[in-house]
Amino acid sequence: MSEPILKATNLSRHFKVGGSLFRKPKILRAVEDVSLTVQQGETLAIVGESGCGKSTLARMLMRLIEPTSGQMTFEGRQIDLAQGRALTELRRDMQFIFQDPFSSLNPRMTVGRLVGEPIETHAPQLSARERRAKVAELLAQVGLRPEHADRYPHEFSGGQRQRIGIARALASGPKLIIGDEPVSALDVSVQAQVINLLADLRDRLGLTLVVIAHDLAVIRHMSDRVAVMYLGSVVEEGGTDDIFARPRHPYTRALLSAIPVAEYGRTRQQIPLEGEMPSPLDPPSGCRFHTRCPFARDACKTEAPVLRATDTAPGHRAACHFFEEIAAENPPPPATEGSGRTDAARARFALYADAIAGTETRPRAET
Ligand SMILES: Nc1ncnc2c1ncn2[C@@H]1O[C@H](COP(=O)(O)OP(=O)(O)OP(=O)(O)O)[C@@H](O)[C@H]1O
Ligand code: SF4
Ligand SMILES: [Mg+2]
Repeated sequence: MSEPILKATNLSRHFKVGGSLFRKPKILRAVEDVSLTVQQGETLAIVGESGCGKSTLARMLMRLIEPTSGQMTFEGRQIDLAQGRALTELRRDMQFIFQDPFSSLNPRMTVGRLVGEPIETHAPQLSARERRAKVAELLAQVGLRPEHADRYPHEFSGGQRQRIGIARALASGPKLIIGDEPVSALDVSVQAQVINLLADLRDRLGLTLVVIAHDLAVIRHMSDRVAVMYLGSVVEEGGTDDIFARPRHPYTRALLSAIPVAEYGRTRQQIPLEGEMPSPLDPPSGCRFHTRCPFARDACKTEAPVLRATDTAPGHRAACHFFEEIAAENPPPPATEGSGRTDAARARFALYADAIAGTETRPRAET
């Protein structure tokens, strides 16, 4: 396999919280010892419950926050050591799309300035006229019109604002885009359009994507690989099809048992995910999932499992002591038409399926 475009090795980020003159601060382990790789042109999805460290990880990869320990490289260049010009070049090559398109766009700037600003930073040799032409080209790429350049963010719908955010991210000519829940703030009807736009841009421009998403339907339809996070660590990773068909970690099995599986023509075994995720201020000993795992045994309380290869497909790894036995004792049920799905989930699933299957193959602005 070729050298990955993005590589993180043993990345951790701890935050000190609650300290005072008389009390030592506590250490919150938001991300703990995460290693991952992303190949050129692929889409990696990062998934996990709220508070599991997805945004912290993504922000570290972009150097928007500093890691406590670990290394990161982009095309072999060390991200965590980059300074000055090297850092500017990395910021040109790696861009971020935020969850909330409204708060990430300066309301006092026109769309033309918002999209033109990164062009000015990264291509200062362009004349004002060339820059305007480039802005118009970028707006067209995301399904907006040239005259939108003179308007302000508040004049647009949520989906259009996210398109502006995407145009701004594309303005520096990046090779990799990290989207932190890029559609979760949007209306369901608009989400599929924006997801489709991102997938289309990725294919046309040869982009590499790292997408954080809560919604497994989004992940199913746009990612090549998935990393599942639990309480700061990656507990399972592998090809999307393989993970969805043959999840090995009990946490992934529980997450997936909650979504529709129309594509497979069978229901999944329902594995309840009970209770709250424990606090990263005081994570459980041994396997961090043991307090909620229906398969936990005594050994799980003391011995922390490491990511290791599964029996399913190359590159599929899971951090569970007993995944072989669990898979053998809990095979998928025989084929039956899906039940146990909510109408809302089924509708959303169909929406993404249509979008990606090409019902809406070109980006377009919603009205
Ligand atoms: N600046 C900070 N100071 C202290 N704690 C923080 C800080 N940023 C994040 N955290 C904590 O780190 C943990 C991981 O947060 P993070 O935002 O990365 O999770 P997330 O998976 O992105 O969650 P969500 O799905 O809700 O966006 C949480 O417990 C959060 O409270
Ligand atoms: S190691 Fe034990 S507690 Fe952790 S996921 Fe596996 S069975 Fe469950
Ligand atoms: Mg987040």
